[in-house]
Amino acid sequence: MSRHADLVPAIGGGLDPTGLRAAFGAFPSGVVAVAARVDGEVVGLAASSFTSVSLDPPLVSFSIATTSRTWPVLRRADHLGVTVLADHHDTVARRLAGRADVRFHGLDLAVGDSGAVTLSDGVAWFDTTIHHHVEAGDHTIVLLRLHTAAHTDRSRPLVFHRGRFGLDRPA
Ligand SMILES: Cc1cc2nc3c(=O)[nH]c(=O)nc-3n(C[C@H](O)[C@H](O)[C@H](O)COP(=O)(O)O)c2cc1C
Repeated sequence: MSRHADLVPAIGGGLDPTGLRAAFGAFPSGVVAVAARVDGEVVGLAASSFTSVSLDPPLVSFSIATTSRTWPVLRRADHLGVTVLADHHDTVARRLAGRADVRFHGLDLAVGDSGAVTLSDGVAWFDTTIHHHVEAGDHTIVLLRLHTAAHTDRSRPLVFHRGRFGLDRPA
């Protein structure tokens, strides 16, 4: 049986943070906004680690860096809104990862009675509560229980691949 290296030469790699980030980045993902109103302020961030987990009970997850300054605030919210971002949200996604105090300025938001905050023009929307969290190295895996779920087929999702938006083409 051929080794992978005989078929396609690997580039970079290794278990150092740079090599790992590059190898992890080969796996394309969507991007979500996780957000809520806490003490009257909308707080949240962009996350590409979102994934569906369970139908019964309905669970999704995302991973948050232990260095996050937003998570200790966001986790105090009763409910967290999760929006699957649309393909026109590339600038929005960068902004949701930038300066915390202006992340949501100018965005068309829906604030639920529960305090969950979603972006109006996303692809899918979830109202969630924290079900469980697991410490996992330099991240915490957060399991979220869904209370509502909705989606549209009128727009396409934002894709994050190799540190860029959209599917990166092979060299
Ligand atoms: C496309 C994209 C995806 C991201 N995904 C994650 C993620 O899954 N987990 C995470 O902890 N941070 C992720 N980030 C970084 C956060 O959005 C945010 O910048 C980081 O948490 C630092 O801000 P904070 O200290 O306010 O939390 C992502 C950023 C971008 C632009």
